[in-house]
Amino acid sequence: MALQDLLDQNKTWAEQRLVEDPEFFRRHVAGQKPRILLIGCSDSRVPAEQILACGPGELFVHRNVANVVSYNDVNISAVIQYAIENLHIEDIVVCGHTQCGGVAAACAQTLGDGYVADWLLITTWAKRWVDERLAAEGRSPDRDEYLSLVVEENVRLQVKHLSHLALVRKSWRNHPGVPRLHGWVYDIASGRIKVIVEPTSIKNEVDEVAKG
Ligand code: CO
Repeated sequence: MALQDLLDQNKTWAEQRLVEDPEFFRRHVAGQKPRILLIGCSDSRVPAEQILACGPGELFVHRNVANVVSYNDVNISAVIQYAIENLHIEDIVVCGHTQCGGVAAACAQTLGDGYVADWLLITTWAKRWVDERLAAEGRSPDRDEYLSLVVEENVRLQVKHLSHLALVRKSWRNHPGVPRLHGWVYDIASGRIKVIVEPTSIKNEVDEVAKG
């Protein structure tokens, strides 16, 4: 069987965990108390737990193509609702990454006519804003820098979408400022994370909601 090596790796992994910590699995059976909700890209090079040096039980994770927060996506809405209302998670991070194929496709406008095209329509707004800013500055960066700028703008855009979700605003009314929203970009070339959006940048939205 082609996947036998993965099943063998799983067996070895589980055995090693027990050697290191006999209570490892028993603790997880008892429940979860993850520290954050991380919304990341499906890209195989950005495994959430590994890049943050976390183990099972530490992160609540949702991943999709280009880490998009879409208003009419029941999937992500259910994840966010569960994170806020059941797990009482106080920090939500949108984590994009450099060399993102989804963002690159949106930039190159080579989306074709399938589901990927529909999905990434949202990301084309990030490209549009970067284009406008560069035109105003009279700048034309090379392809890599351009893609990085759109990746960052896409993270800002998705954090903004989070801040507009009824679910998040309901939580802000009851617990001002919680969940705190963050935007990060993981650099595939160095493994390092750059902070793009800090919770303080959302303060105006939080205040506005609190005023009703
Ligand atoms: Co990506």
